Amino acid sequence: MQSLQNKNIVLGISGGIAAYKGPELVRRLKEQGADVRVVLTDSAKEFVTPLSLQAVSANPVSDNLLDPQAELAMGHIELAKWADLVLIAPATANTIAKLAHGMADDLLTTIALATPAPIAIAPAMNQQMWHNSFTQENLNKLAQHGVIQLGPASGEQACGDIGLGRMLDVPELVEQVGGLSTDEILSGQHWVITAGPTREAIDPVRYISNHSSGKMGYAIAQAAQKAGAKVTLVSGPTNLAPPSQCDIVNVSSAADMHQQALSLATTATVFVACAAVADYRVAQVAEQKIKKHEDAMQINLVKNPDIVADVAALKAQRPFSVGFAAETQDVEHYARGKLAKKNLDLIAANDVAVSGQGFNSSDNALTVYSADQSIDIPLASKTQVAATLVNIIAEKLKS
Ligand code: C5P
Repeated sequence: MQSLQNKNIVLGISGGIAAYKGPELVRRLKEQGADVRVVLTDSAKEFVTPLSLQAVSANPVSDNLLDPQAELAMGHIELAKWADLVLIAPATANTIAKLAHGMADDLLTTIALATPAPIAIAPAMNQQMWHNSFTQENLNKLAQHGVIQLGPASGEQACGDIGLGRMLDVPELVEQVGGLSTDEILSGQHWVITAGPTREAIDPVRYISNHSSGKMGYAIAQAAQKAGAKVTLVSGPTNLAPPSQCDIVNVSSAADMHQQALSLATTATVFVACAAVADYRVAQVAEQKIKKHEDAMQINLVKNPDIVADVAALKAQRPFSVGFAAETQDVEHYARGKLAKKNLDLIAANDVAVSGQGFNSSDNALTVYSADQSIDIPLASKTQVAATLVNIIAEKLKS
């Protein structure tokens, strides 16, 4: 089936070298059933001609906010309303900066401000520009406003540098765009997601815990809810506001989380275990605050139940079960080991030894393993990574 059947896509092309892929992108989007109208920025016209884009899209190409003739045919507000999706590919650092500041000084950015449709950007730029903190701040701001980020990919760049910043290859980009049009694909589904750390009491005032912020689990909850699922978030203590419209069940210890998660799991379509659950709890929690006497003391720990493994072992009403693996070495080896041992359908692994991603960070990069496949989700905001992960899970559920 065509993944973009009857979808109206405004394709905004801004002025980077990847603009030359525009005609190919239009052809592939149309092959998937989309009706495509192209909007070019001035600098994009240096890389790709309006005529070739008009020929492949079979629609007039727009490039001027103040062109009376074009406005008569389909004005910029009409174009903004016509769109089911505004896709900006390539999105240059300059266009990203303008979008992040709500500027509207050309036709493309004006449409982006005027459209009620979702906006997706496929960034493309030199790797140094990509890593620049201005660019990253702008991208975070756009993610907070719900702009979807597709890519970039890593590899050799037109300028000779090697690194992150290449526009996704056209087939990959079209596949991800196809995944986005699945707006309500999760309607009727119930997702149960564990998030955050657990706290294992030592005595009435002390506990053992970890640095998990809960951001990744909360972002997955939000993405699943946006895609139409009913979401229950079983959360350890975090400083985050729960995503609106998600049911939240607050827990503290692994035992609490285990009990709540297991009783919810039998009603779930999908169970995502994102929580950093303490592996051990204190064997004998002291009833009174422990006083300091000796120079050394010992606390006996006993193993906590494995929540996701117990969910995945359910004989009846077993949900599609997804785990996480935070590793510091041999990521694939350990992740695949947990996938098999816990009987999971998918495991999302990240290398927490790499700074700037994973634990307590706002960004993440994941590799998602199933028994026979692996898919990389490149470094991006947790909001964006969550949206991609939700799409991957949705695709797996279909197969
Ligand atoms: O075995 P490890 O703790 O590394 O596995 C991580 C995965 O297992 C995560 O998905 C985590 O949420 C889940 N887990 C769990 N219950 C535990 C320990 C881990 O659900 N007691």
